[in-house]
Amino acid sequence: MLLHPDSQPTGLPTVGHRRSYGTLPEDRKLGVGIVGLHEGHTLLVALRASGLCRAVAGCDLSAEKRESALAAAPHVWVTDDYAAMLARPDVDIVAIYTPDSLHADQIVAAFEAGKHVICTKPLVNDPAQADRIREAARKSGKRLQVGQSTRFGEPFQRQREEFEAGRIGAVEVVDAHYNHRMDWYYEKSPWTVDTTHWAYLGLSHPVDLCRWYLGPIREVHAYGTTTALGQRFGMKTPDAISAQLVAESGAIGRVLGNYGFHELPKARALIECFLMGSEGSSLARYPDLRFNRHDENGVEVEEDFHHAMTGYYYRHELKGMHYGEFCNYTDYFASCLLNNRPNSPDLEEGLETVLLMGAIVESLQTGRSAAVPR
Ligand SMILES: NC(=O)c1ccc[n+]([C@@H]2O[C@H](COP(=O)([O-])OP(=O)(O)OC[C@H]3O[C@@H](n4cnc5c(N)ncnc54)[C@H](O)[C@@H]3O)[C@@H](O)[C@H]2O)c1
Repeated sequence: MLLHPDSQPTGLPTVGHRRSYGTLPEDRKLGVGIVGLHEGHTLLVALRASGLCRAVAGCDLSAEKRESALAAAPHVWVTDDYAAMLARPDVDIVAIYTPDSLHADQIVAAFEAGKHVICTKPLVNDPAQADRIREAARKSGKRLQVGQSTRFGEPFQRQREEFEAGRIGAVEVVDAHYNHRMDWYYEKSPWTVDTTHWAYLGLSHPVDLCRWYLGPIREVHAYGTTTALGQRFGMKTPDAISAQLVAESGAIGRVLGNYGFHELPKARALIECFLMGSEGSSLARYPDLRFNRHDENGVEVEEDFHHAMTGYYYRHELKGMHYGEFCNYTDYFASCLLNNRPNSPDLEEGLETVLLMGAIVESLQTGRSAAVPR
């Protein structure tokens, strides 16, 4: 069953109640080795639905995480030694889901081992790492896909299809946010308080969405504050950030990330991307599987994928999991590799987003606008 037979400008057909990027027999699927088996466990399970990839290996320092990976996927080889996983010939793609500050070294090591890489967001949390990652990629000739999950949710894929079909005209303003109360995350993963910055960890979702529609960003101006919740957990940098962006085209965007507020999930979704175009507007939401747009008569239309696609995106667990998005970007990347097509966001686009987030941190620190380095 085709959910949107008239809307496949990106060549990404929806089959059944999910997206499909093609299928291969089991023994020809690309092997994925996953490092970091908390969020990476989601990918391990998500790959059961994959048409082009299969999980072959998992790596985590925690014995508990390795055991739980084996319980979910008994065929997978597990280790606590990343170098041993990189040495395996059945690993074609290394997928990285460790704390942000480890990504740069692990990406470089994966390229040096001759592997393609998927790295979760944020790609890295330090713009100074860009050159050595670029150099490792160039030497290896291998490719990287940023696991920018939000882009790969159903409403955001539909929003992109409508944009690429020209139905909202030129995007003039983007208003994107990722707001999420994070006490549970600080308790689960203390590294999120003191080894990264929320301008990378959280803001990477709306910043990537703005860049996706506005193209290269010229300048940013950001303000931040540390919420009472952030202060309670010892946060030394802002956990609520608002940034204004100006694109090289002159179009503008604003991003908001608040990680210490009281959520109103019926009124506002955790992630929203509101596009205001010359011919119409559209709004995509996460975790709600809803997408609003104008039709050709200017009538507001809501597409609601809850009934059709909750099983694929969330496996009927609580909304807020990432199964469908992770499977989408892994299969999308595999299809680009197998067909020798460019992928997005690739390493260069991912690094541009990192430089943009770096400029947001600079503006927070100086109180002035910051130019985004190219
Ligand atoms: N929407 C998304 O795509 C999404 C959602 C949540 C988290 N993330 C990203 O995923 C990454 C991990 O987040 P998380 O919530 O799973 O963190 P976490 O703290 O729950 O898990 C990190 C895991 O990495 C393991 N680990 C740490 N160092 C390691 C090493 N050197 N070798 C092997 N394993 C190691 C830890 O034992 C732990 O199991 C972060 O970069 C985060 O931003 C992305």
